[in-house]
Amino acid sequence: MAKRKRKKCNLPNIPAASSQPAESRDIEQNEVPQGPRRIRLYGDEILRKKAFPIQEITEVERKLAEDMLVAMYAAPNGIGLAAPQVGVLKRLIVIDVNRNDLASRPLMLINPEIESLEGESIAEEGCLSIPDVTADIKRAEKAVVTALNMDGEEIRVEGEGFLARALQHEIDHLNGVLFIDHVSGLKRQLLRGKLRKLVKEQS
Ligand code: NI
Repeated sequence: MAKRKRKKCNLPNIPAASSQPAESRDIEQNEVPQGPRRIRLYGDEILRKKAFPIQEITEVERKLAEDMLVAMYAAPNGIGLAAPQVGVLKRLIVIDVNRNDLASRPLMLINPEIESLEGESIAEEGCLSIPDVTADIKRAEKAVVTALNMDGEEIRVEGEGFLARALQHEIDHLNGVLFIDHVSGLKRQLLRGKLRKLVKEQS
């Protein structure tokens, strides 16, 4: 992974809608960055925060979703991204598990909720916020998720296999949970060195 450039820029802040609770006016909530969004890496505390439900879908959310897709596709193996990973504490995820298939259309889900989980499967997972770390993670084999699409319509996504996995992984991000949290015992111990190095790079 290319070395991260730290760039400070002054961006306009759009005031939060008055219908939103005070806490949802968290860092960078309503900022509309001009350039590409930087993917936050392990050690960045925003990855551990719970994201806030989206009350209204405006230009800000549409731009955010677009920027998230750009950031996801820019990463060679990116198949999913959650808004906190680009520094925005909003409940928005994007997923495209078949990104190399030209006919594939990405999912953009607002306020996704897991309706049901079924079965069990173990597969290797990674995360754009935790570069160079992978682990076998046990997840449900099937997941049914309800959400709003970008037009604010209620939708239901039934995922199996890798899509089910991606849905679970990205919704975890909205709750401050990372895939490594599902690793326990010895394997966790083995990851510790790599994680510590990532945190060091952050400070
Ligand atoms: Ni991730």
